[in-house]
Amino acid sequence: MLNTFQQAQHDMLPVATPDEASRQEFTKSLKQFIQSSILPGLGPVYRARAAKKFEVETGRAPADRHDIRKAMVPDPYFQHYAAVNRISQELLWDSVIDSIDAQLPELKTKAEANSAKNAGKLVIPEDFKVPRYVSALDIHCMPGGYAGRPGGDSVGLGVLYDRGVFLYAMGYTGPDNDDMGRSVCNYVKRRLDGFSPKRILDLGCTVGHSTLPYKELFPDAEVWAMDVAEAQVRYGHARAGAMGYDVNFVQGNAEAIDFPDDHFDLVVSHILLHETSGKAMPKIFKECHRVLTKGGFMIHADLPPFDLMDPFTQFILDNETYYNNEPFWGAMREMDQIQLAKDAGFPAETIRFDTAPMAVMEFAQAADGYSQEAAEAVNDREFTAGEFAPGGGWEVLIAQKL
Ligand SMILES: C[S@@+](CC[C@H](N)C(=O)[O-])C[C@H]1O[C@@H](n2cnc3c(N)ncnc32)[C@H](O)[C@@H]1O
Repeated sequence: MLNTFQQAQHDMLPVATPDEASRQEFTKSLKQFIQSSILPGLGPVYRARAAKKFEVETGRAPADRHDIRKAMVPDPYFQHYAAVNRISQELLWDSVIDSIDAQLPELKTKAEANSAKNAGKLVIPEDFKVPRYVSALDIHCMPGGYAGRPGGDSVGLGVLYDRGVFLYAMGYTGPDNDDMGRSVCNYVKRRLDGFSPKRILDLGCTVGHSTLPYKELFPDAEVWAMDVAEAQVRYGHARAGAMGYDVNFVQGNAEAIDFPDDHFDLVVSHILLHETSGKAMPKIFKECHRVLTKGGFMIHADLPPFDLMDPFTQFILDNETYYNNEPFWGAMREMDQIQLAKDAGFPAETIRFDTAPMAVMEFAQAADGYSQEAAEAVNDREFTAGEFAPGGGWEVLIAQKL
């Protein structure tokens, strides 16, 4: 079950020494162990003792995820789970930092050379202000967060995300960490028959993991990847060059997109929205509508809303809000995104939530894909990261400008 996929090496990733690789594999396996062997114990603990204790103390059964949290937090099994989960998260970033530090001068030289190979533009505006919801904390415990600390090194931060997030996802986002992009691309190919966008914008691209599959699917399209974090955009441009893609990268804010009206045929995002805020989301939806051409589509792949799941699952997923520096994780799931899309100008009949099946799963199932063992490992997956739709794919919100 462990190590379903290994990350594909490219020129911008440091080569880990055997010791570093072993520490990184350990953190990945530890996370998998927590998900497959400790997490499933929370349900029985809740039913057998925490809920009963809550009832004795309050005279009523837990009614929602907040009550369940009150019941579970004092329980030693839950405390053990939450602590070891947090430790695994911090360990994983630490396990990558050593190999970056050792190879930083070489990686900086490579970044310049690989950026030069990418014929797409790299646009870094002067005096750009990173929104506070990104700059104020180390999101998901990544040292420096997405945007880094003032004076920090940009190449190092990009590598840290690229390698670290692969371990974070335990390899399940595929060898190039691009499963969300691939899955949405498959969705577009199958569900939007004949749609052939000339200009595509990926908002909150980080290092462009999900962006590159769009260039693969639509090689003639002008593809733009946008993020508020300069370090991620710079690294993403170099990574795309190293992987043989011509894709444009721009530091920019999805709340105020610096492109003209009616410019893009497709605007997408992958796990961007839950990293923003309640004030930012309506602005982002309006901007998507503004920059889209008539007939163009907006697709956001992100966390499924809480109302699609039972209160105990909501409580489990909300642990990210409490213990993984993801302040908007829970609140975002309560936003009425359909209404936000309507308010932004998208006609009601074009707006829907849907499921984009995971490309890795489909690939694993294909006769000429990964080994049978890998296919079984993916399909047996017990982990519910929260990003996944109840149907076993990625949750997408889709709307069309008419
Ligand atoms: C979880 S990451 C996205 C991962 C990426 N889309 C992928 O699929 O690999 C969230 C990204 O959104 C960026 N971000 C947050 N708020 C933003 C905004 N208002 N405009 C553009 N990017 C933003 C963060 O800097 C971060 O890089």
